[in-house]
Amino acid sequence: MTILQLEKRILWVSVAFVLILFALAALAVNLFHVGLPTCLTDIKPFQKGEVITHSPTHYEIHYVAKMWKFEPENVTVPAGSTVDIYVSTPDVTHGLALLGTNVNLMVVPGVVNYSRVKLDTPRNYQLLCHEFCGTGHDRMATNLRVLDKASFNPAQLAPAPTQSQDPGYRLLESKECLSCHTVDGQEGIGPTLKGIFGRTEKLTDGKTITVDDAYLWESIVNPSAKIPSGYDDLMTKTELTDEEVAQMIEYLKTLK
Ligand code: CUA
Repeated sequence: MTILQLEKRILWVSVAFVLILFALAALAVNLFHVGLPTCLTDIKPFQKGEVITHSPTHYEIHYVAKMWKFEPENVTVPAGSTVDIYVSTPDVTHGLALLGTNVNLMVVPGVVNYSRVKLDTPRNYQLLCHEFCGTGHDRMATNLRVLDKASFNPAQLAPAPTQSQDPGYRLLESKECLSCHTVDGQEGIGPTLKGIFGRTEKLTDGKTITVDDAYLWESIVNPSAKIPSGYDDLMTKTELTDEEVAQMIEYLKTLK
């Protein structure tokens, strides 16, 4: 078999390209610490978001991605930190991208996904969901702040959730009401609960009512009875005791 001079050259160039490719990959791994994200099947998905401090320059964040937010929210770490990011979800498939870094994970029910990042520059990183996960997908974002070492105070690490610990609020959360109703005035699948008590509401049958105890009670236990105009009859009935309904209503009255 004879190999032409030209063929030989082409072979050499091809081999060189392959070697350069491997060299670049090795360089990326060793110099820039580019790694593949890992899916961990031997850790149980966690229920609670938290930040664990291993050392003043090494933190571990357990994110829980759920419809439609990340917990913990607004974590702050000092510049120069290595951050191990773990994420899991109790509901549907989400994504986690830390914009401006190489962190880009799928968040799949049943497993924990992991990536490590070193954050050297003081700045605000946006952390968001990049997998369409439902009507609240576009709201699903939080921040990961990197502060310069001098101004960092460990108390800032993970601010306690600003959400109310009111039993009424916790009921709304645990009964999934907040998947469709917001408490901050933003539009949802259902009307916002902000300022609901005393509000004038036009109904689908054309009547206008003022939201009072009786209307709230009826709408919670029998959601289809009176639907505000502009919304569909989508709310399902939820098993609630009278006491729970009363607690919810008490809380709704505080949402001015
Ligand atoms: Cu979660 Cu999109």
